[in-house]
Parts: sequence; C-alpha cells; structure tokens
Amino acid sequence: MAFDEATTIKTHTAMGADYNVLVLAAPRLAAALAPGQFVHVRIPRLEASALRRPFSVFDADPATGEVSILYKKVGRGTAALAQEAAGATLNVMGPLGFGFPLKAKGVPLLVAGGFGVAPLHFLAKRIASDGKPILFVGGRTKADLLALERFAALGIECRVSTNDGSSGTKGFVTGPLDEAIAELRARGEAFELFTCGPDGLLKAVAARALECNVPGWISMDRHMICGVGACFACIQKIRQPNGAIYNARCCVNGPVFKAKDLVWD
Ligand SMILES: Cc1cc2nc3c(=O)[nH]c(=O)nc-3n(C[C@H](O)[C@H](O)[C@H](O)COP(=O)(O)OP(=O)(O)OC[C@H]3O[C@@H](n4cnc5c(N)ncnc54)[C@H](O)[C@@H]3O)c2cc1C
Ligand code: FES
Repeated sequence: MAFDEATTIKTHTAMGADYNVLVLAAPRLAAALAPGQFVHVRIPRLEASALRRPFSVFDADPATGEVSILYKKVGRGTAALAQEAAGATLNVMGPLGFGFPLKAKGVPLLVAGGFGVAPLHFLAKRIASDGKPILFVGGRTKADLLALERFAALGIECRVSTNDGSSGTKGFVTGPLDEAIAELRARGEAFELFTCGPDGLLKAVAARALECNVPGWISMDRHMICGVGACFACIQKIRQPNGAIYNARCCVNGPVFKAKDLVWD
C-alpha cells in the first residue's frame, strides 16, 4: 500500500554534468521499497497543478533509513528539484508499481541505458540467483556511463560499450550482450534478462528474451501524471494469456512487464 512520507534531503550531489543523486532520510519508504518500484516526488517550487515526477529507486536501505534517487535534469520539474539543498523536506509517495522478481534462475543479465542503471543497481543489491549478475551498460560516450563504481563495489562485472568507443567496446550495448548470451547458450547455462533504459534498448532486449525463450523483465518508461492508475496517461499495450490485448497502465500494472506480454507499437 502506497503512502506519503515527508523525507529530508541528506545529500544532493552531482553525478557528471547532467545527473544528480539525492539521498533522502526516508525510514518508512526505505523499509517498504523493492527494486523496480518507483516513487512519485512532489517538487517544491512548482505550482500544485504541476503535480509530481516519477523516479526509480537507485538504492533503499532499511538499516540506514535512506532512499536514493539518481535523476537527469531534463526539464522544468527536474530543474526545480535540482535547486533543493540538504535539509529541505521532500514529500515522496511510494512504493508504487510492480518491480523486478528478486530471484533468477541462472545468471541475471542486467542491461542498462542512461538512468536505467538506477533500478538495476537496487536490483543488483537484492537479487538472489544461481549465478552472479553481469551488468551491460551502454551510452553515446563515456560521460553517459553512470554509477559503474557502485556496481563494481557490489562485485558485479560491468561490460561497457559506447557509440564513440571512448570507453569499453565501440558500438551498441547489444554487441557485448549477444556475445554473453552466445557463450551462456553454448555452455547450456540458464540466464534471465532484466532491463531499463530507452525504448529501443528495451525492445532489443525483449526480442532476445523471446528468441532465447528465457524470462525477460522489461521496465517501461512512460510519461506519468497521477502515478496511481487514475489518469490513463501511461498506457502500454499488453497481450493477455488468451491472446486479447488490453491497455495496461504502467504505474499500477508495471512499470516492469514480462517481455512476452509486451505489444510494441
Ligand atoms: C517509472 C519511471 C521511473 C523513472 N525513473 C527515473 C530515474 O530513475 N531517473 C530519471 O532521471 N528519470 C526517471 N524517470 C523519468 C522522469 O520521471 C522524467 O525525466 C521527469 O518526470 C521529467 O520531468 P521534468 O519536469 O524535468 O521534464 P518535463 O519538462 O516534463 O519534460 C522535459 C523533457 O523530458 C522528457 N520526459 C518527460 N518525462 C519523461 C519520461 N518519463 N521519460 C523520458 N523522458 C521524459 C519530455 O518529453 C521532455 O522532452 C522515470 C520515469 C518513470 C515513468
Ligand atoms: S500515471 Fe495516471 S494512470 Fe498511470
């Protein structure tokens, strides 16, 4: 059941040129949030009609009572959020939506683009599996690669690619991913796919899950307004077991969906 918590900003720091990390004192949320769920943040300094903005959970630690968000400054809401300093109060609603499963059969292959690393970092901390997770992360250039040191600190292998070759393999993240999939299949090892990032990446990962007949867990990013199922702003077409297609709401039916259920426009 979602609730509102009046959280306090503990730290608010830059991560590269375009991103910030917010660490909130939020003991109730820290104890309740699961990887892949999201929070809806009321942004101070925006008029009430501007409502809230949704963000994935980068980290949540019940022991410290801290919740972290990694966000990109893209517009009015995130620009206003970036002005808030340590000590300020932020009203945060959560836990919202359905997240990732916390158990994987075989090796979890985590595939991230941009701020998609945020929920995958939280997942990497919590997932139990028969194999060690591997992170595949891609960006246009080195500056787009986020939080790699946090994954490394968890002992997670990071396979990096950039379009311009400034870090890791030159090209798309699907290159190293396909190599790993081929190796795992050749050895007969089980794996599951987990992804968050731009639509093109999500679609590519979902296609691989279907081709390989393995579970694929896809975190959809859709514009949201209410965050609680009331406005139908966040529609995603989903195929039901009987073949019928319905308009799911990412905020309450997702944001994480099974690859085999997604219908791409
Ligand atoms: C479930 C979910 C989880 C998210 N997690 C994160 C996260 O962990 N970190 C993060 O930085 N962002 C995340 N987002 C995206 C974030 O909510 C938007 O970037 C934010 O709402 C933009 O607000 P704004 O007022 O600054 O931008 P606006 O002024 O509303 O828009 C500025 C630009 O950003 C684009 N934009 C707006 N909303 C989105 C969106 N949902 N996705 C992509 N582009 C958008 C607009 O099309 C426009 O081009 C998430 C979104 C969802 C739905
Ligand atoms: S954001 Fe309103 S229904 Fe999903």
